[in-house]
Amino acid sequence: MSTGSTPLLDARGVTMRFGGLTAVNNVDLTVREGEIIGLIGPNGAGKTTFFNCLTGLYVPTEGTVSYRDRVLPPKPHLVTQAGIARTFQNIRLFANMTVLENVLVGRHTRTKEGLLAALIRGPGYRRSEADNRERAMALLEFTGLADKADHLARNLPYGEQRKLEIARALASEPGLLLLDEPTAGMNPQETRAAEELVFAIRDRGIAILVIEHDMRFIFNLCDRTAVLVQGQKIVEGDRETVQNDERVITAYLGEPLEQPTAGQPPAGQPTAEQPAGAQATDAQPTDAQSTEPSA
Ligand SMILES: Nc1ncnc2c1ncn2[C@@H]1O[C@H](COP(=O)(O)OP(=O)(O)OP(=O)(O)O)[C@@H](O)[C@H]1O
Ligand SMILES: [Mg+2]
Repeated sequence: MSTGSTPLLDARGVTMRFGGLTAVNNVDLTVREGEIIGLIGPNGAGKTTFFNCLTGLYVPTEGTVSYRDRVLPPKPHLVTQAGIARTFQNIRLFANMTVLENVLVGRHTRTKEGLLAALIRGPGYRRSEADNRERAMALLEFTGLADKADHLARNLPYGEQRKLEIARALASEPGLLLLDEPTAGMNPQETRAAEELVFAIRDRGIAILVIEHDMRFIFNLCDRTAVLVQGQKIVEGDRETVQNDERVITAYLGEPLEQPTAGQPPAGQPTAEQPAGAQATDAQPTDAQSTEPSA
């Protein structure tokens, strides 16, 4: 939809090298208002690395990332502030905080009190707490987690942890949401529900860029899909264009591009870093990135 409108996200010539390995090679990608764009490719193609370049976790070796016509500084909190939120392939929740608290932490970029105040619950935080709680509860309603608001994040089933990551990302009030394998580890019913959730997010005026291995999910949702192979974007277009492209067929050699069973990743590909139903997330934000959960 809305082709022809100003690009929201404009990535130009993004390249990321790790020593001798070029993980992302001169990738251009545009996302416009109202669009749902897919990013697919075999394992190790560079999809997550590209997300990390877009969100300031990595400083690209070359290239620029612009959001609403402004070049983004490669700093996660500034990218979040500018209006881009994301979820992670490896779920990053505050496992020992409640579901509601996780969403409240996600709001820190939109509250003047900031993350520290949210964590120590100082006076400034308490003043705006009622408003924040109301907005956070509304997001939990929206994602279907309201009845779990007081549960510890670690006790949620795996599919609900993924939804909570989305709720937390939405708490930063983004204009663009990046989802890295949002259905990994979900059963087919959860995957269909996740599709509905993505459409509902788009209907709220938020554009979406989504990485997935589940082709049915991708082709049901996306206005356009880009294919990364060995760091390079080899094709971008609608379902027909992508499915009929010889280079895509070769890249997925031996694997049917569309999986017979929804929600099942292609053979040999991990569903996620944790099995479905796993009870634990990262115990605490132990690395720098985990303190930027919505980055
Ligand atoms: N921090 C890093 N240092 C060195 N190499 C890295 C780093 N991050 C990623 N890579 C390498 O970059 C390549 C692309 O990895 P990436 O995780 O982006 O792939 P992907 O497309 O997300 O794969 P998957 O579908 O399995 O999640 C891989 O060869 C990976 O080993
Ligand atoms: Mg990945």
